[in-house]
Amino acid sequence: MKNLRGKAVFITGGGSGLGKAMAARFIEEGASVTVADRNAETRQEAEALGAAFVQLDVTDPKAFEAAIARLGRLDILINNAGIGAGYSALHEADLADWQRVLDVNLTGVFHGMKFGLAKMVAQNAPGVVINTASITGISAFPNAQAYCASKAAVAHLTRCAAIEYGALRIRINAIAPTIVMTPLMEQHLPTDDSRESTLARYKSMNPLPGMPEPEDIAAAAAFLASDDARFITGVVLPVDGGYTAR
Ligand SMILES: NC(=O)c1ccc[n+]([C@@H]2O[C@H](COP(=O)([O-])OP(=O)(O)OC[C@H]3O[C@@H](n4cnc5c(N)ncnc54)[C@H](O)[C@@H]3O)[C@@H](O)[C@H]2O)c1
Repeated sequence: MKNLRGKAVFITGGGSGLGKAMAARFIEEGASVTVADRNAETRQEAEALGAAFVQLDVTDPKAFEAAIARLGRLDILINNAGIGAGYSALHEADLADWQRVLDVNLTGVFHGMKFGLAKMVAQNAPGVVINTASITGISAFPNAQAYCASKAAVAHLTRCAAIEYGALRIRINAIAPTIVMTPLMEQHLPTDDSRESTLARYKSMNPLPGMPEPEDIAAAAAFLASDDARFITGVVLPVDGGYTAR
């Protein structure tokens, strides 16, 4: 399993959850991985996996540009950093929450693509971009307008960029996971008696029983990054046990 030997990979939000699983999988595949995360406390675990670490807030364009410029080269960029916030009815939604979610989940991906693609174009070599979208960007969910809208926008930004950069042999795809138990989802789980019933609901919401593990999402990313996917670009790949097939 050394499909990505020698590839230079940059993963935003790589310090936790899905990004951490991707970092581990890409290292297993022989890649040289840089984890970029806002949370400096994730440095130790990233380095223990064998990744380099850079503290980066994806909403800061200057810092993002500098982090990409410092890389020797960039073959695979994974724009994965994301947050959930401000869950409420739309008419009670808070503008600051809306903007914070859009800033991280959408503008953060825009920054990654802008600076990452500039580097790939300058390298004049094939490249891969993978964005983490969500089933919430395909199907509608209540009380999560900012999150859903940000993920729908990431999915379409992915398609737009894919047709722009295809001729340069840069493939750009997204992954749309269903609910996976990561620290992001843990923080939204109720702590009272309804915790178990909420978990049971998550486990029965997809046509395939149960929930995916972070490693299942990492496996999809490893496939999309590999030459096995060499003619795949512009797709938003659900890893959702069939949720969006309904
Ligand atoms: N867990 C799920 O059920 C699920 C489902 C669909 C999509 N997603 C998406 O997957 C991605 C990863 O989520 P996760 O579940 O692994 O969450 P997580 O909270 O476990 O990990 C996210 C990581 O991103 C980092 N991060 C957050 N804001 C950042 C910023 N501004 N700059 C840099 N780093 C930042 C965090 O520090 C954290 O390490 C997100 O984009 C999320 O929206 C998650």
